Amino acid sequence: MTGATAEPAGLGRRAVLGSSAAVGGLAVGSTLGWFGGQAGSPAAPVTPEAVIRQRYSPHELHQAGISTPTPAVTRLLSFRLRTPRVAAELTKLLRLWSGDIEALMAGAPIPGDTAPDMAQAGVSLSVTVGLGPRVFELPGLASRRPSGYVEVPAMAHDRLQDRWSGGDVLAIVAADDPTTVAYASRRLERDAATFATLAWVQGGSWRGTDSAGQPVTGRNLFGQLDGTANPSGADLEAVVWASGPAWFAGGTTLVVRRIELDLDFWDATTRERQEKVIGRRLDSGAPLTGSHERDDLDLTALDAAGRPLIALDAHARRAHPSVNGGRRILRRGLNYTHTEGGHRGVVPSAGLVFLSFQADLANQYLPLQTSLDQRDALHDWTATIGSAVFAIPPGFGPGDWLARGLFEP
Ligand code: HEM
Repeated sequence: MTGATAEPAGLGRRAVLGSSAAVGGLAVGSTLGWFGGQAGSPAAPVTPEAVIRQRYSPHELHQAGISTPTPAVTRLLSFRLRTPRVAAELTKLLRLWSGDIEALMAGAPIPGDTAPDMAQAGVSLSVTVGLGPRVFELPGLASRRPSGYVEVPAMAHDRLQDRWSGGDVLAIVAADDPTTVAYASRRLERDAATFATLAWVQGGSWRGTDSAGQPVTGRNLFGQLDGTANPSGADLEAVVWASGPAWFAGGTTLVVRRIELDLDFWDATTRERQEKVIGRRLDSGAPLTGSHERDDLDLTALDAAGRPLIALDAHARRAHPSVNGGRRILRRGLNYTHTEGGHRGVVPSAGLVFLSFQADLANQYLPLQTSLDQRDALHDWTATIGSAVFAIPPGFGPGDWLARGLFEP
């Protein structure tokens, strides 16, 4: 769902702020160097393949996989700690994973790798790690909880299932191809096994490039351009990155929602109605009050009969910052299809793994979600069946490890 909103791959915040890094709304750059140790290198021009074949570094102010472009394949692995009351078990896992992530993202095998030949660079591999709410119940950690990091209460329209919800530690593995994602996921899963068990795994695909390899806004399985109104540049900085507490500066919070889409019912809906549900055109993504994808919504425009051109319950109106106290989020989506064989036979299910990143979950995401729950034309075609929240620590320096500052003052 991230459209052209990426921070340059490999440029830390200082470099971004200090250079005209965003070229054409999306930028790429070198991927070397811990953010604190290097001055910004000039951004490379956008190549036709700005989304794929990237090499990201975990040694940035922010973890990769958040504002970097969404590659073709993403898998989320949520774990429950075996001994959730012992911080030392979690820190061992985070240390181990930090080394793994450093190697994997550099395209190198990790120690003890049983399939070392599968490691490769230049496949846009990113691993993003998050910490679930129970982590902040560990002795001494309550006061270090990021501000606004709360759980999302069940909404009236939710149909939540435990098998897609919750978790203590999350790894998001994303890359250009499913084989790399499977390989990296397995390495992380194996190293986690001593400390944690899998709670759920879910994932999906995204097409963020056109046939010429140029970055474009991807489409969800309803066929809508999804991610158009995402913040970019300085807006993105303000929306996504937390400035404190100290250990969390450069981190963010994540809400994961598994939203099932009723594609049969959608297919049976007229195109005109489909466009009204969102308030945007299906072909171009333009607002019903405009002609180009990036045109602003005109929420005051009326049709000849005096009715709002963008309906009062249209999703894009209900989610618009102007009716939500200016609140914004960064959305990143993954299309999933899932087929289950069982006593009822083959049951297909399809939807969106909806990821929302924001500096302050309680003040940005929650009011928006609550308002959409109250009124949103999309409800007739969607049902949220999974929900989880994670605090995403900042990146880590070479030889250092993820979230160390949380445990070591
Ligand atoms: C399956 C469920 C959903 C679908 C299919 C969907 C689809 C869309 C589409 C097509 C747009 C317009 C294009 C764009 O700006 O990306 C949009 C905008 C937006 N959606 Fe959703 N969305 C879903 C769920 C959600 C949820 C759960 C939230 C937040 C809690 C949300 C928040 C937003 C926001 C903030 C915008 C941009 C509004 C603006 O600034 O103009 N969406 N969504």
